[in-house]
Amino acid sequence: EKSGFKHFMLKEIFEQPNVIKETLAGRIDEDHDVQLGPELKIDEIVLRAMTKISITGCGTAYNAGMVGMYLMRSLCKIPVEMELASEFRYGDRAMDARTLTIAMSQSGETADTIEAVKIAKDAGTPVIAISNVVGSHLMRLADATLLTRGGPEISVAATKTYVSQAVAATLLALYLARVRKAAPLERLREIAEGTKLLPAAVDVVVNTSDQVKKVARKVRKARSVLFLGRYVNFPTALEGALKLKEISYIHAEGYAAGEMKHGPIALLDAKTPVIGVVTEGRVREKILSNIAESKAREAPIILVANHGDDEAAALADHVLWVPRVDEMLSPIVNVIPLQLLAYHIADIDGKDVDQPRNLAKTVTVE
Ligand code: F6R
Repeated sequence: EKSGFKHFMLKEIFEQPNVIKETLAGRIDEDHDVQLGPELKIDEIVLRAMTKISITGCGTAYNAGMVGMYLMRSLCKIPVEMELASEFRYGDRAMDARTLTIAMSQSGETADTIEAVKIAKDAGTPVIAISNVVGSHLMRLADATLLTRGGPEISVAATKTYVSQAVAATLLALYLARVRKAAPLERLREIAEGTKLLPAAVDVVVNTSDQVKKVARKVRKARSVLFLGRYVNFPTALEGALKLKEISYIHAEGYAAGEMKHGPIALLDAKTPVIGVVTEGRVREKILSNIAESKAREAPIILVANHGDDEAAALADHVLWVPRVDEMLSPIVNVIPLQLLAYHIADIDGKDVDQPRNLAKTVTVE
């Protein structure tokens, strides 16, 4: 059932344009307002009364939650905190009935996430799950679930479920912002309308797979790779690094680009590739200067950049090209070449792509 693909992971990467359509289907009305009320069945008065949002999850789900965090901070005008589910229970966090907990979990069975949700519920917080599996443990515990509709994912390394979680979190941010009247309606509608371009944009990127493979050949000998992103694409860097280490066993770190000079720059040399996300947006100039600092240390530079970006092309040894979308939606597109890069490196090296060593698809122990 790999439909002609060599691995499930590659098949699932190619399914992403359709998965995004599924995640969006029926959730944006003709005025471009996100409508989640009928699904969530949480009174809008309750959502308006919230004073804090708290997001949790593990691994890839945590990274997708972080995309949601940046959107909610920007659009919902409410403090948003994030914590790894495995740390949540020891975090001594202040929570009450006016804290909205958002639990991210593809399977809905991850033990750490379930435990975090139990603690949140004990503190009286309403819980919204963002999950892929109907009837999962998480879904039964949560007050409401936003289904990601990613379909079954066979590859242990999550790809389409990451993207569907990020899309669902984006929809939730747009919905909460509208209900709370926290952002100009035109801006919310502009982003919602922009989501309609995502399937085509992601389709363009998955079809660059052969070009990404050429870049993979240049990176595969590295012992360590640094992924840099800022702001909404900091989670993209985290996710790119997670994918690479999971399936290729190459050491990789995702870093907020501004942190480079506070330590990791010491690691750089001509054998340590730096992969930066420099697509258009408010942090582009900043990250370009972080990349220039890396280049000055002779690190090979690979950039995720928008088509026609001459500045990126001049700076980089290799460019992974992606179409332009709204900055707030860019994490959904920008992660795709990084999934492909991890895939091709692992495949060229003959790794067991779909079943990486030491990993289980669902971690039901704490
Ligand atoms: C990464 C990966 C894991 C999961 C994590 C949480 O590719 O698959 O990091 O994302 O174990 O799993 P769920 O989302 O099922 O809670």
